[in-house]
Amino acid sequence: MRITRFSAIFLDEAMTSPLLEIRALKRYFPVRSGLLHRITGLLRAVDGVSLEVNAGEVIGIVGESGCGKTTLGKTVQGIYRPTAGEIFLEGKPLSRLPAKDLRRLGLSLQYVHQDPLASFDPWWPMARSLDEPLRAHTDLPWSERMERVVRIVKAVGLDTEHLECFPHELSGGQLRRLTLARVLALNPRVLILDEPTASLDVSVQARILKLLSDLRSEFKLTYVFISHDLRIVRIMCDRVAVMYLGKVVEIGPTEAVLRDPRHPYTRALLAAIPRLSPGEPQDENLLEGEPPSPLFLPQGCRFSSRCPLFQEGLCNASEPALSPIGPGHEAACFRSAELSTSEETVARVGGFGLEKAEKREGSKMRIGESDAS
Ligand SMILES: Nc1ncnc2c1ncn2[C@@H]1O[C@H](COP(=O)(O)OP(=O)(O)OP(=O)(O)O)[C@@H](O)[C@H]1O
Ligand code: SF4
Ligand SMILES: [Mg+2]
Repeated sequence: MRITRFSAIFLDEAMTSPLLEIRALKRYFPVRSGLLHRITGLLRAVDGVSLEVNAGEVIGIVGESGCGKTTLGKTVQGIYRPTAGEIFLEGKPLSRLPAKDLRRLGLSLQYVHQDPLASFDPWWPMARSLDEPLRAHTDLPWSERMERVVRIVKAVGLDTEHLECFPHELSGGQLRRLTLARVLALNPRVLILDEPTASLDVSVQARILKLLSDLRSEFKLTYVFISHDLRIVRIMCDRVAVMYLGKVVEIGPTEAVLRDPRHPYTRALLAAIPRLSPGEPQDENLLEGEPPSPLFLPQGCRFSSRCPLFQEGLCNASEPALSPIGPGHEAACFRSAELSTSEETVARVGGFGLEKAEKREGSKMRIGESDAS
């Protein structure tokens, strides 16, 4: 089964203003401790994310576990209330809409859960789980709701007999299809897909990706595609945003970011992709250690505690903002210009080597060491 890029399908109908716009979005979680359960800190899961998503586009969100991808998706969808910032859908600010309009418009924006099993009631057959959002959000009679459910279940490649099953009776791939069916029944325009192929074997992954591609064409969908897997992001996404500790540190057209990454963190993520060809050496430039806690962010650049290019007095003095470095391509690094790979372009994802850059930089590029020069 071959998955083709389908990025250009809806370019004709691309709107001048973005379909979804996220401005300086923050979501902090209070941390409580002690007998009185007092708030003793704030965990900055999402800490000032701005993104524009055009109609028909697929934008990827990548980053290590805990960087805030799910929190971002849930906050955008309204599952979590933003701590600060604003979300615009079709140009309308969601936080300032009257409840009735918010209810109607909010249906256009749906979040597809990272864990499909947890998103279904274990005691309900699928027919009831798929009917429930329609019953809650539409005035359709039961017969029309069921008609819609059956149509959508067939569109995601399942038989109506699956509607009689309980969640534990279904495979991971079938559950993924049904989570998609449940949100598609609400006629959304934007789907936030949280790790849509996690815990699936590669053949099922390929089928789900093909399905997502087909559904996007059929239902004219826009995707925010959250994933750990840069190889999948490369296939699926027009643009990619790289998150680290609650912030976007690099964003741009997928090919530009993956072939010419301008943030040391993006480089490290690419270096972490395992080589599959026999005899091909694994990249030595792997990112070491865990990210710091979002409760205690490093001073200055939040990647400074792990960055091989860290420069005392520069990187810990202030936090770098996203700056343009190419068409639609931005990175938040004071030293991004030194990371140019134009003459040594990396030809493939999964084969990202820093060897030439290392020569130019001496030993500075070795991940795990710091550059105090
Ligand atoms: N409901 C919550 N209450 C408190 N802290 C939370 C909550 N949800 C997430 N967090 C914290 O927020 C940070 C970001 O978590 P999030 O689940 O968004 O990361 P993620 O990038 O989706 O990770 P993964 O790739 O493992 O799914 C983590 O430090 C996490 O512990
Ligand atoms: S070089 Fe400095 S600014 Fe750039 S990512 Fe590393 S620590 Fe941050
Ligand atoms: Mg997550």
